[in-house]
Amino acid sequence: AEVVIVRDEAEAGELVASAIVELVERRPDAVLGLATGSTPLSTYRALARRLADEGAPDVARVRGFALDEYVGLPSGHPESYRAVIAREVVEPLGLTPELVHVPNGEPETIRTAADDYERAIQAAGGVDLQILGIGRTGHIGFNEPGSSLASLTRVKTLTEETRADNARFFDSPDDVPMHCITQGIGTILRARHLVLLAFGEAKSQAVADAVEGPLSASRPGSAIQLHPHATVVLDEAAASRLD
Ligand code: F6R
Repeated sequence: AEVVIVRDEAEAGELVASAIVELVERRPDAVLGLATGSTPLSTYRALARRLADEGAPDVARVRGFALDEYVGLPSGHPESYRAVIAREVVEPLGLTPELVHVPNGEPETIRTAADDYERAIQAAGGVDLQILGIGRTGHIGFNEPGSSLASLTRVKTLTEETRADNARFFDSPDDVPMHCITQGIGTILRARHLVLLAFGEAKSQAVADAVEGPLSASRPGSAIQLHPHATVVLDEAAASRLD
């Protein structure tokens, strides 16, 4: 992977926003792969500012696919990734809501939701630029350690560590769902450009494992080493365990 070390999250956001603006200028119906969580927020904010500039490309035809969704949250829950993507991405960027997809985490339809999602990504022609964060467990998407490097979209169980990390978004740690539906590692690897962002010392081991560690299903982030066009954008703290 190409590793870029930046001063702070704001600079990372500007960098990735520039790449997305260039992509949309080239390809007005570009397909973006959207991560949730804290890490991509500086990118979404920078992008919203850029798109408000005079001469910015029109994003009405831009399409999007979220990486993952919780299973079993009450529909309309503000921390469901459907709600988060609407609030943090679709609205501020002015994307067309019908063109932005989030896996369906409703238990009633979960049997078909994963295959439907894979088909929808393929029908869109695949993802042009996939934004990724990484968990302390090394997960990308919600592919926790032990995920097959060839996996496709499916239901997974969140680790206790990830549930604890995400408890900050919920009223109580017990409210964090046990399960999720996530693009697989194989799904993620089909995107034409991967942009993995990580900030802070807490991510430094997961980053070192992803960038320099052995390729292993126990270190899901290491799958980016299989990708011919992966960019890793880090602050100094997240980069601190790289050789
Ligand atoms: C989110 C996702 C996760 C997060 C990761 C880091 O859609 O798939 O892999 O990117 O858990 O989360 P933050 O950015 O909140 O530290």
